[in-house]
Parts: sequence; structure tokens; C-alpha cells
Amino acid sequence: MALVPMRQILEEAEKGKYGVGAYNVNNMEQLQGILWAAEETKSPVILQVSKTALEYTDKELLVAMVKVIANKYNDIPIALHLDHGSNLELVKEVIDLGFTSVMIDGSLEKDGKTPRSFDDNVRVTKEVAEYAHPLGVTVEGELGTLGGIEDGIAASEVILTDPDDAKRFVEETGVDALAIAIGTSHGAYKFKATPKLALDIAEKVHQDLPNVFLVMHGSSSVPQDLVEEINAYGGKVAKAMGVPIEVIQEAIGLGVRKINIDTDGRLAFTGAIRKYFHEHPEVFDQRKYLGKGREAIHKWVKSKMIDFGTAGHAHDYQPLTLEDMKKFYSNR
Ligand code: G3H
Ligand code: 13P
Ligand code: ZN
Repeated sequence: MALVPMRQILEEAEKGKYGVGAYNVNNMEQLQGILWAAEETKSPVILQVSKTALEYTDKELLVAMVKVIANKYNDIPIALHLDHGSNLELVKEVIDLGFTSVMIDGSLEKDGKTPRSFDDNVRVTKEVAEYAHPLGVTVEGELGTLGGIEDGIAASEVILTDPDDAKRFVEETGVDALAIAIGTSHGAYKFKATPKLALDIAEKVHQDLPNVFLVMHGSSSVPQDLVEEINAYGGKVAKAMGVPIEVIQEAIGLGVRKINIDTDGRLAFTGAIRKYFHEHPEVFDQRKYLGKGREAIHKWVKSKMIDFGTAGHAHDYQPLTLEDMKKFYSNR
């Protein structure tokens, strides 16, 4: 199947009241592990690529791999999404490459740290929506800031999303999906004690904006068994804590539809490879240890697809094209 617009995947998730994981990809093994899980559980899926992933992997090569695999898994709706796009130039570049969805993260200034003013966020986000929508491409914006330690995405202060601002932001920008800040952060070290999220914000924004699809960034659960596996085989990951699965399920119940996850995949992949190296010190065939990483991704994504309620929904709808979406946006 050709790649589908992310808006369609989220619209269907809203109808069925389930969540869809957006999994970060950088390489072939991640891509295959995720698609194996989607095929096995019959789940729609969002593959997302960050700017640094585009820099790490030759961008044309990464997109070519995604397109080849999307055609192979013909019955699975797959969207290709830019994660944390920082400016219009990057958005234009990935749309030319064939992305069906883009995020413009206008919440932070160019330094990737300082919160941007509301008006400036509206300006950059609107500019992207005005460019992307006539091409049929879905747009995600962000309002509020997350904490975090990932490259270039590290707000110096956490600002939760104000539901009144969210309404104005969506009216003024026309975004399809909105990343809200409700207390999560990127990376493995999200909380020092019991996680507490401002789920009431998600609930209110969803009530006010039922046709805008809510996105929860920083949604890794940081499962302790994955951390322990890394540490048992020579790793040194300090005490880490993520968003418990029950909290994500509660958020889905309140209207969150896109669940962004990267860190858990990194943990699963690393633990499996560390274990393999420890148990087979004589092996130096990359396929053997990268294959273990791929299997770990497969197993982990499968469990997310079941936990988020995505499983079984791949065949609920006929896929739309970007041409269909061009008509949709021009009639809006
Ligand atoms: O939200 C950030 C993602 O985890 C992407 O991280 O820029 O290191 O690829 P990255
Ligand atoms: P995690 O670091 O919790 O996996 O979040 C990833 C993310 O939000 C990507 O945009
Ligand atoms: Zn994010």
C-alpha cells in the first residue's frame, strides 16, 4: 500500500477510541521489527523520523526503505511522519521526499531550549500548514513545552498546555494534530517519584476540540525489565522511570490518539544486543546481534499495539491518498 496520510489513521483511531503508536525509526532493523508487529497484530502504524535520524541515515535511503516495506505490507495503513520538525525548509524537504505528515515544533526557539511566544509559535505553525495542506500532508503542532534531554529538544522550563490557548492555537493555525504538554518529557528519566500527569488538560482540550487529534510526546514507559537487562549485561543505565502503561491507557480514554515512543525501542534493542554479546563472545556476524535487536523491537511493538488498542484495526478502512486529502483541505 502507498503511504497513507496520518490524518486518516488518527481520524479512524478517534472513531474507534484507540491510540496509535508513533515509533521513531533510524535503520532497517527497527523498520522491519515495527512492521512485523503491525502485520502480526493487524495494526495501522505511524513511522516517525527525526531530523537527527535523517542526518544519521542517508535520507533518500531511509525513505526508500520505508516505501519498499510499505508496499510489501500492503494491507497495513502506514504514515511517514517528521518528528519535531524545526522549520519550513526541513518540512519542504521531507514532503518532497514523500512524507505524508509533518510535525512543526514551534514551541521552542531555534536554540531548541527557550520557549517561543504564542504568537511566534502560531506564525511558524501556520506557515507550515499553509504549505503542507494544499499538498495533502497532515500537520502536527505543539503548544506548551516538555522537559527532556534529547538532542535539540530540551526545554529549559516545562510549560503545561493551557486549554484556552490550545483552542486559539488550533483556530489560528489549522493544524490536524496537537502535541500537548501534560507533564511528560523525552528520554528515560522522566520522573523522580510516582508519575503524575495533568490528564485533565487532555480531557478538556479533547472536549473543546474533538476534531483535533491529541498527541502525547515522551510516552515511553521505560519498562524495568528492559533497564535491568541492559544493566545485567554490562550496561550502566541509572534508575529510570517512564509513563506507566495504565496512565497511557487512561490518556487514550480521555482522547489522546497519537502516542510518541522512542526511548523504549532504544532500551529493547540495546538490551537484546548486550545479552547476545555476553552470551556469544565469539560471534562477529552483524546479522546475528542486529537480528536480536530486531526481534526485541518486534516483541516490544507488538505489546504496545495490543496495549494501546491499535491491534485489529488495519482493515477497518479504505486508504486515502494525498490527492484525496488535497480535496479535503481545499473544501475546509
Ligand atoms: O523526541 C525525540 C525523539 O526521541 C528523537 O530523538 O533526535 O535523538 O532522533 P533523536
Ligand atoms: P520518549 O523519549 O518517551 O520515547 O518520547 C519520544 C518522543 O516523544 C518522540 O517525539
Ligand atoms: Zn517528542
